[in-house]
Parts: sequence; C-alpha cells; structure tokens
Amino acid sequence: MAPLNTLFCFLSTLSLFVSASGYQLVQNYNASNWFDSFFYNNGPDPTGGTVNYTTLAQAQALGLTKIVNNQVYFGAESTQVVSGIGSDFGRKSVWLQSNLEFTHGVLIGDFAHVPSSACGTWPAFWTIHNEGNNNGEIDIFESFSDTPHNYMTLHTTNPSLNCTFNPPDNSETGRVDNGTTDCNLHTDQPNQNYDGCSIRAPDGSYGDALNQNGVVYAMEWTSAHIRIWYWPGGTVPSDITNGNPNPAGWGMPAGNFDTTNGGNCDLDANFLSQGVWFDITFCGMEAGGDAWSSYGDCAAKTGVATCEDYVRNNPSAFTSAYFLVNSVKIYQ
Ligand SMILES: *[C@@H]1O[C@H](CO)[C@@H](O)[C@H](O)[C@H]1NC(C)=O
Ligand SMILES: *[C@@H]1O[C@H](CO)[C@@H](O)[C@H](O)[C@H]1NC(C)=O
Ligand SMILES: *[C@@H]1O[C@H](CO)[C@@H](O)[C@H](O)[C@H]1NC(C)=O
Ligand SMILES: *[C@@H]1O[C@H](CO)[C@@H](O)[C@H](O)[C@H]1NC(C)=O
Repeated sequence: MAPLNTLFCFLSTLSLFVSASGYQLVQNYNASNWFDSFFYNNGPDPTGGTVNYTTLAQAQALGLTKIVNNQVYFGAESTQVVSGIGSDFGRKSVWLQSNLEFTHGVLIGDFAHVPSSACGTWPAFWTIHNEGNNNGEIDIFESFSDTPHNYMTLHTTNPSLNCTFNPPDNSETGRVDNGTTDCNLHTDQPNQNYDGCSIRAPDGSYGDALNQNGVVYAMEWTSAHIRIWYWPGGTVPSDITNGNPNPAGWGMPAGNFDTTNGGNCDLDANFLSQGVWFDITFCGMEAGGDAWSSYGDCAAKTGVATCEDYVRNNPSAFTSAYFLVNSVKIYQ
C-alpha cells in the first residue's frame, strides 16, 4: 500500500495545482501603498449628498484617513455639527479613486470594518470607467441607512448597446431587485428610483452584522460574467487567504450577472477598464428625500423629519461610518 499512498498524495497535490484558477496577483493595495495609489477627490458629490468630500491632506489632518496597525482607515467626520445651512454644506467625508485601472480579473476587498447601518449613510465600494462617456460601472458593495442587505448593481452607458440581466433564482443567493433588469442608464424603467440592473443580496450582507469579524467581498469579471460573493469574517475560502483565488470553487455567488444564463449583454463592449473607487456619502438620492421617510423607517427611528437635518446635527451617529481595509487585491 505504501507506493499507492505515495501515488495518491502525488495525485492529490497535482490536482490541487490543476484545479487552481491560474489567477495571479497583479495589484495589492494596502497600508504600504494606499495613499500613493488612491486620489481623494474633494469635488462636489454627483449623487447630491449632504457631504463635503476632503482632499487627502484635509482628510489626514482631520483624522478621516490614517494607517492604524497596518490597516487603512477612511471615514466620515463624526465630532462636529455642520453649521451651514443649505445644499452647499455637508458632513465631511471621503471619496477615493484608484490611480490605476484594470480589465478582467478578480477584485477582492478584505475589510476589518465597513460602514455600519446608520440612518443617513450611503457607502459604496465600486469600480467604474470614468473617461469619455463613462463606460460601465460595477457596484460591488453599496447600501444605505439601516437596510440589512447589500445591493450589487451594473450601470452601462452606451444607448446603442443592450445590456440586461434577469438571472434565475437558482443561479445566485441574491434576488433581482424589483424592476431593475436593464443596466443601461438611458433606459427608463418603472418601479425604480435609480437606473441600472440591481441584485439584492441576502439580509446580513450589509450593516452592523458584518463588523463582528470583518467581511471579504469579491468580484470576478470575465467576458462572460460579472459575479459577486461575500463572506463574513471567519468564513473566507482558504484559497483567498492563501493568495490563490479560485472562483470556480466558491459556490453560488450572491450576484450573478451571467451572459450565458439570464443575460443579454456584450460585457466587453459595455465595460471598459475599471478603476477601484470608494465613497461614503449621506442622504442624497438613496438615503435622503423619500428614502428617509417613505420607503425607509429613519424618520420614525430618529425622530428627525429630514435626513439632511439629522446628518448635520448628529455627528456621533456616524462614528461607525468608516472602512478599515486589510487589503484590496486584483488578480488576473
Ligand atoms: C502590501 O503589499 C505589498 C505587495 O504585495 C507587500 O510587499 C507588503 O508587505 C504589503 N504590506 C502590508 C502592510 O500588508
Ligand atoms: C466644505 O468645507 C469647506 C471648508 O470648511 C467650506 O468652505 C465649503 O463650503 C464646504 N462645502 C460643502 C459642499 O459642504
Ligand atoms: C436591443 O433590444 C431591442 C429591444 O429588445 C431589440 O429590438 C434590438 O434588436 C436589440 N439590439 C441588439 C444589438 O441586440
Ligand atoms: C414591483 O413593484 C411594483 C410597484 O411598487 C409592485 O406593484 C409589484 O408588485 C412589485 N413586484 C414584485 C415582484 O415585487
């Protein structure tokens, strides 16, 4: 039996290599290179939020971004009442854009902390092609206020290209958000307050639940599909922690934008090279306005009639509106 055992060991080692995806690390954003790798954009918020984005220097001076124990912190200001009134005045926060872009591969965000379920916040970890006509956006982690689930959304921009996804339930753990199967920004759809095709991940995919032990979010982008998975701390596949990610072994994705199953989209035509972006805004289209009082419960919960007033006047409500990043890696 000894030779057979040896052979078995050899074969199983071999099959490990054969089954590996072949993805190689090409970018590792972490505490060593973060501030050289991301632009902190202090421009106006395109989503109309009650926010005042800071430059890197301003964010560092205010303690809104820093390296702590080899982790990268960035988040909202949570000590000051915002004294100005009107749409020009908002809570200080951050909007980050990677200097480099990538095309196809696996993007893995390893977070010790993500913004928690606070009324008024609207954070996102996403990718976008931000040149010319803005070709393609992939929202990996995005939600608002006290919603317990994450929304995964694609946005496409070329009006002459169709891009729709209606994945069957048995292909993902999330569910297509009502009325949002068409990804194109130029296509108006009923029953939705923003354009794009969106999948709602299961409860527990956003908010405080993720901050017991952190969370890993991963996105695989090929010509055939864009898939998103997440694992709360402690459940991360070992091939990710070992640095040899193999999406084929990760099981059912939370969101599965699959051109071979429920999709009609030329992904390569609709999605050009993507930068990695983060932002934490307040109110605006998703967390303010109607979302505050009609389809959200934040007006009742906080006793404040508008999101904008709540965000300006309650700094301590936003002490958990921050990301703490172990790493963001790109494999190709
Ligand atoms: C950041 O990534 C680089 C390149 O992979 C690595 O050499 C370095 O040790 C990492 N730094 C931290 C703090 O993890
Ligand atoms: C942002 O903060 C600066 C400095 O405090 C202030 O002058 C400016 O009006 C603010 N802008 C917004 C959009 O809140
Ligand atoms: C896009 O969709 C429309 C409506 O379903 C269809 O008429 C058209 O042929 C499609 N175009 C392409 C290029 O697939
Ligand atoms: C989608 O939303 C519309 C309008 O809010 C509602 O009438 C319809 O029942 C919803 N459909 C599903 C499948 O939830």
